Amino acid sequence: MKVFITRNIPATGLQLLREAGIETTIWTDRRDLTPDELISRCKEHDALLSSGPNKIDRSFLEACKHLKVVSLLSVGYDNVDVEAAKTLGIPVGNTPGVLSGATADTAFLLMLSVSRKAFFMHKEILKGNWNFWDPTANLGIELNGKTLGILGLGKIGFELAKKCIGAYDMKVIYHNRGRNEEAEKKLGAVRVSFDELLQQSDVVSVHTALTPETTGIFDKAAFSKMKPSSIFINTARGGVHNEPDLVAALQNGMIWGAGLDVTNPEPMEPGNPLLEMPNVAILPHIGSATEETRAAMSVIAARNVIAGLKGDKLPHSVV
Ligand code: DGY
Repeated sequence: MKVFITRNIPATGLQLLREAGIETTIWTDRRDLTPDELISRCKEHDALLSSGPNKIDRSFLEACKHLKVVSLLSVGYDNVDVEAAKTLGIPVGNTPGVLSGATADTAFLLMLSVSRKAFFMHKEILKGNWNFWDPTANLGIELNGKTLGILGLGKIGFELAKKCIGAYDMKVIYHNRGRNEEAEKKLGAVRVSFDELLQQSDVVSVHTALTPETTGIFDKAAFSKMKPSSIFINTARGGVHNEPDLVAALQNGMIWGAGLDVTNPEPMEPGNPLLEMPNVAILPHIGSATEETRAAMSVIAARNVIAGLKGDKLPHSVV
C-alpha cells in the first residue's frame, strides 16, 4: 500500500506509517501542487495525507475515487467537500484535540502582543528607532479584568479562556449555536447573542470553523458594533473576516487593534496596510506549529491512514 504526502511531516508519523509496511512518497518542493499534479500523484497511490491548502473538492474526489482514505494534517477541513466524500464513500480524517493548547497559545500571544504593540515596537527597533521613553507615546492597554468574547467556543476556545482567566481574571462570554455546558460550569462562561458578543467584549477571539454561515461574518457591520477600545483576534480561518473591512475598521477607530494568525488571502500580499499598523500583529498561520503538537498531529494523521488502508473506522474522522 502507498500513501502520497503533500508536505514533509514529523518523523514520528512517518515512522508509524513505515512500521505498518506502508510505502511513503513525500512532495518536497517548496511550492504547492497544482490540482492536476495532485490528481496525477494520487492516481499512483492508495491514500493521501494532506497538509496545507490542497482543495479536496468534488472534481478531485471523483478523479481519485480509488483512494481508500484522505487524512488531513489539520483540525480544519473547510478545504474538503464533505458531501462529495460521503457520496463517494471516501473516509476523511482530521487531527482534533492535540493542537488546542498550541493554537490557544498563539491567540494569547497575539492578544498580549497587540495590547502592548509589541510587534510594532520590535519593527521600530530594527529601523533604529529605540527612543520610546515618551510617557505619553505608544501606550498599550491592559487586559486585567476585561471581557473575552469567543466566537465558536470549542476545545481551542476553552484552552484560551482558561489562560485568560488564570492570567488576567477575564470574564468569558461566548457565541455558539448550542450551549457549551462544560465551559459554563468550569469557566463561568456566559452564552450571548452574536451582537451582544460584539458589543460587550474587550477582546473578540475567533475559534469557529469556516462555513457558509461564518464566511465574512466579521464585516463592516460587525466591526461597527464592537467597542472602539476592543481587540480582534483570529487564529481560525482568514475567510471569517472581511480584510478590507478590518483595515477600514482599524483606520477609522471602530476597533483598537487586531492580531491575525490567519489572513485572507494567505499568504498576505506584501504591501497590505495591516503590516504597517502599530496596533496590529500578524503571524503566518503558525497556530499549531510546535515540535510537540506537530508530532502529535502526525501520529493521528498516520493512524488515520493506517486504519483507512485496512478498511477500518478512522480514529478521527470528519466523514
Ligand atoms: C488546522 O489544524 O486547521 C490548522 O489551521 C492548519 O491548517
